[in-house]
Amino acid sequence: MATDPLERAREEFLAALAAAGRDAARVEAVRVRFAGRRSGLLRDLEEALKTLPREAKPAYGKALNELKKLVEERLAAAQAQAEAAGRRPQALDVTLPGRRPRVGALHPVTLVRREIEEIFLRMGYSVADGPEAEDDWHNFEALNFPPDHPARDSQDTFFLAGGRLLRTHTSPVQIRTMETTPPPIRVIIPGRVYRCDSDLRHSPMFHQVEGLAVGEGITFANLKATLEAFVHVLFDPRLAVRFRPSFFPFTEPSAEVDITCVLCLGKGCPMCSGSGWIEILGAGMVDPRVLRACNLDPERYSGFAFGCGLDRVALLKYRLPDLRLLFAGDERLLRQFEGVAR
Ligand code: FA5
Ligand code: MG
Repeated sequence: MATDPLERAREEFLAALAAAGRDAARVEAVRVRFAGRRSGLLRDLEEALKTLPREAKPAYGKALNELKKLVEERLAAAQAQAEAAGRRPQALDVTLPGRRPRVGALHPVTLVRREIEEIFLRMGYSVADGPEAEDDWHNFEALNFPPDHPARDSQDTFFLAGGRLLRTHTSPVQIRTMETTPPPIRVIIPGRVYRCDSDLRHSPMFHQVEGLAVGEGITFANLKATLEAFVHVLFDPRLAVRFRPSFFPFTEPSAEVDITCVLCLGKGCPMCSGSGWIEILGAGMVDPRVLRACNLDPERYSGFAFGCGLDRVALLKYRLPDLRLLFAGDERLLRQFEGVAR
């Protein structure tokens, strides 16, 4: 029958189009194969019309026109679908490598704290701890700050209800240690401290690390050697350590300790205000009154103590320009410490 090739062409076309799915290139290949101007199947079928006997032509022509219309409509629909699919995001490729979750980083203050702890652990110290909400005895009285003594003003204390206060330094843990541990004592005490104080170089919450050594025959020379060793390991063996006479109620004699500026190595720069020196801690020999307050005999025992601002050490160590960066919670700072393990 003359309509058979048309019926076959129709079935082939529908099957090919279904197989092409929404793949634009395959839809185009189907178009060329069936509706291509030069060699498409429809063109061949049109040519075949000429060879038919006259009486067969009307039916064949009508069926051919219907087939052409179908091919045209279905191709247009398939092309539109393929184009829309191309615009949609690609389906999930489960073979791609996964996204690694960020593991976070240690805070620069934590890094410095751990490094300092390690240095002193190697020198035979142990790490001690105490409460941040302190009482007046440990924070002041036992440290030889009598009531109404003007030295209390230098500490800008936050007072809590019930007579407690936020410790203004880590020195109260000296007292707690001497009250509970018989000499020889060698402890390092890191922790948060609080003062009503805030500007470029002061934060109301900051960190100190306290050192305390008590025993028989401990001298200022031991303090000096210990701090020099500490600074040389933490920063740079080329740095000098300088002791300036100072005052703390709980040490006698007392000193403020400077190191050669780590940035300019003593030449003078904005960081050290041109002096070539940077103050990093307060120190001294434990005052006999403090030993006595802890029931230790000053005739038998002596000791040294020091208290160091950890945040400032972190600034120096990591060349940070502003103390407040440490507490701003800005991830861009912390990310720079990813992978720095301590
Ligand atoms: C003290 O707090 C003494 N307890 C230190 C001490 C301990 C002396 C043992 C002798 C023996 P001072 O108030 O100077 O001292 O503070 C010590 C260090 O803490 C300073 O050198 C500074 O580095 C740091 N510091 C003080 N106030 C702030 C603040 N608001 N923000 C950040 N760091 C601070
Ligand atoms: Mg000071």
